[in-house]
Amino acid sequence: MNIPELHLPTENKEFIKNPYVKMAEFRESTPVFWDEINDLFFFTRYKDVRSIQSTKSFGTTFNHIDGFEETINNQVIPITSTAYKRSDQFGTYENFWKSEEFSLLNLEGQLHKELRGLVAKAFLPRSVQQLLPFMEETSNKLFNNLKGTEFDMLKDYAQPYSVSIIGKLLGVPESDHLEFLDWSHKIVKMYDFEVSDENANNAEEAAKQFIEYTQNLLDKRRKDPQDDMITRLSQVSEDNNFLTDDQIICTVILLLNAGHEATVNTLGNGLHALLTLNKSFEEIKNETEDINDVVEELIRYDSPLQFFQRYALEDTEIGGHNISKGSKVAILLGSANRDPRVFEQPDQINFRREMKDHSSWGGGIHFCIGTHLAKLELGVSFNHILQEQFSLIEEPSRTGAFGIRGFKNLLVSA
Ligand code: HEM
Repeated sequence: MNIPELHLPTENKEFIKNPYVKMAEFRESTPVFWDEINDLFFFTRYKDVRSIQSTKSFGTTFNHIDGFEETINNQVIPITSTAYKRSDQFGTYENFWKSEEFSLLNLEGQLHKELRGLVAKAFLPRSVQQLLPFMEETSNKLFNNLKGTEFDMLKDYAQPYSVSIIGKLLGVPESDHLEFLDWSHKIVKMYDFEVSDENANNAEEAAKQFIEYTQNLLDKRRKDPQDDMITRLSQVSEDNNFLTDDQIICTVILLLNAGHEATVNTLGNGLHALLTLNKSFEEIKNETEDINDVVEELIRYDSPLQFFQRYALEDTEIGGHNISKGSKVAILLGSANRDPRVFEQPDQINFRREMKDHSSWGGGIHFCIGTHLAKLELGVSFNHILQEQFSLIEEPSRTGAFGIRGFKNLLVSA
């Protein structure tokens, strides 16, 4: 069966505003399409997206397989040091690549297994649960200061809330949070389809400063251990193997970048969805007893992360189509989450939905390692949000990015 050729118009503003209409059209016409412009096979349906997330036939890199590139028929696949190396244009950005070298997201095989095992030991559910009173207090304080005013939900609430939690967990002093946030914003701009030279230069400079900062903090914690995650990362071991400084630095940068943006955008996308639902918050509260149902449904409905890339590590049949070894594929999480084959009335928000296994947390070896933290902090926030009377001041604009889906700002009053 031939794979149809289509184009996902990620450069089109109308598509970014509401990608679900186009994605539904593609999903109903084909499980997979070839996009020449984005140079990717896109998978559209839940079953295939979940299968690519969890099977070993696909990986974020092939560096762990000796001689991989030589075994691909008539196809020249450059050997890249990281899976995020989208284009040689950015190959010279030393610090950016250094900050990605040991990112769990870019690793496969034994190294991923060992590193993830050690990071998980330092990221215990107990240490996350201990943050609950701090989350409550921070969220309360922020809302109390904003009550009775018009404010930007993202800049004035979601960003300071999320960064103070991840900062507290890691052990970054509060006085450095703003700088921390600025580096993160600049670095994550590298993860979309189109990256301008200016954004790439900013990301490079931010990565340089972030690496230096984290190295300093790590040196301090080695001398004077504290009850925080940077200290724990420096202490955890397995068979007397410890994380190296470079591995810890990449992990700290990943935890901030992976954790912060997705959480902030879930708060923005989620509040916007609640405010445009034509239901009072009282009615919404009556529809569910568990705030986790609200969190999961909002993440399914408008996922903060819309796609991830993988390489086919062997010739594979998926969705009834043959995908040859070395092919680059992308999975469309937002499309999978609205697949009517799995979710009843997928374009409706339903907090009583039984099927909660959406694709937004990932799956397989890269399954989100921060779900316990994300669910707890989002639960605290949405609980507070539903107790307030919010109004939307104006219809917000999207940032313009497809991969990390969010608003530029979200002006509301409470
Ligand atoms: C709403 C919030 C969040 C969402 C929707 C989310 C989603 C995801 C997804 C889809 C992946 C898999 C990526 C892939 O398949 O390549 C992932 C991985 C990851 N997430 Fe999250 N995440 C969230 C919050 C967090 C938080 C709060 C943290 C930590 C502070 C975190 C840390 C990570 C890390 C370290 C990985 C890489 C795991 C690996 O490759 O082994 N995430 N996340």
